[in-house]
Amino acid sequence: MASYRVALLAGDGIGGEVTAQAARVLEAVGKRAGVSFEFTPGLIGGAAIDATGGPLPKQTLELCRSSQAILFGAVGGPKWDHLPQEERAERGLLAIRKDLDLYANLRPAVCFPMLVDASPLKRSVVEGTDIMVIRELTGGLYYGEPRGIEQFADGSARAVNTMVYTSREIERVARTGFEVARKRRRKLTSVDKANVLVVSTLWREVVTRVGKDYPDVTLEHLLVDNCSMALVQRPTQFDTIVTENTFGDILSDEAAILAGSMGMLASASLGDASASLGDASASLGGTVGLYEPVHGTAPDIAGQGVANPIAAILSAAMLLRYSLDRIDDADRIEGAVRRVLERGHRTRDIAEPGAKTIGTREMGDLIVDALDG
Ligand code: IPM
Ligand code: MG
Repeated sequence: MASYRVALLAGDGIGGEVTAQAARVLEAVGKRAGVSFEFTPGLIGGAAIDATGGPLPKQTLELCRSSQAILFGAVGGPKWDHLPQEERAERGLLAIRKDLDLYANLRPAVCFPMLVDASPLKRSVVEGTDIMVIRELTGGLYYGEPRGIEQFADGSARAVNTMVYTSREIERVARTGFEVARKRRRKLTSVDKANVLVVSTLWREVVTRVGKDYPDVTLEHLLVDNCSMALVQRPTQFDTIVTENTFGDILSDEAAILAGSMGMLASASLGDASASLGDASASLGGTVGLYEPVHGTAPDIAGQGVANPIAAILSAAMLLRYSLDRIDDADRIEGAVRRVLERGHRTRDIAEPGAKTIGTREMGDLIVDALDG
């Protein structure tokens, strides 16, 4: 019987509650398919700071390197917010992304028909939204040097972050963008700030050049300010978006509103081995993928058992699709999620005012049961 090694990094806040449900769903779908999962827990983020003094213990990094995939919860919280930048809980996640070279972050924003009214935006705007945001994840402002704060004798200070990209970094994520668009509706929007930033001038040049290899995909360029407006004005005009790290961080949160709630948004962070991008005919190997709900630790509801586990469960489906090439099992989980929503079950974040809601565990139970139809 095939057994897959998955690192389980719950992290902080609601991370543990939602990844527990995602792991259960993977086990249940595996049981039906005759495969098993070996989950090994690892410390990350605030939990790791409390236990070991740092946000990413060596042991956790080694666990990630030796696993086939990583199921990730969320990191951070008020308890660790006072720490200096370089020691914060979030650093644990940033360090894994960099160490494993997970440069392509796929964040689908789909408005499920039965959740149209969960979005604060009008039905006429969000209905039919189906966008894949691809965020570059290992470059730009997040990692650029020089960075730091200088304190001056007169009490004033100066702080620096650097947005830097090489053509190679742009090219590889652009290729991911075109490959993904090719499997969707063949339209790629590259987002930059080419009217102001030289980094964006290079970005636009490289994406345009890579586009020559994909004549079947329509490429358009959009400035980031304009894109952020268009996302809430006419989201159905978008298919696949590719953009740099910081723009992608911001635009993917905005896109979450189109899907009704952050509690619905899954993500996959992939490196070179993900070249197959869910195509069962291509072979895999090499780097490990990290799968994570887009929402954060939600300290306000942590420990109450009310968080929506669907983003984590859909991330588990992406894990099957992109790291393990188990497309049918991924489809099965996504089908189960749709059925449970169609039957009217809602966690608090996606419920209409006054409607009955269920908790994290119950939502997990219902999705496991719905795997069979
Ligand atoms: C995300 C988060 C992270 C990021 C934080 C937690 C470091 O906002 O994954 O979108 O900024 O990348
Ligand atoms: Mg973010």
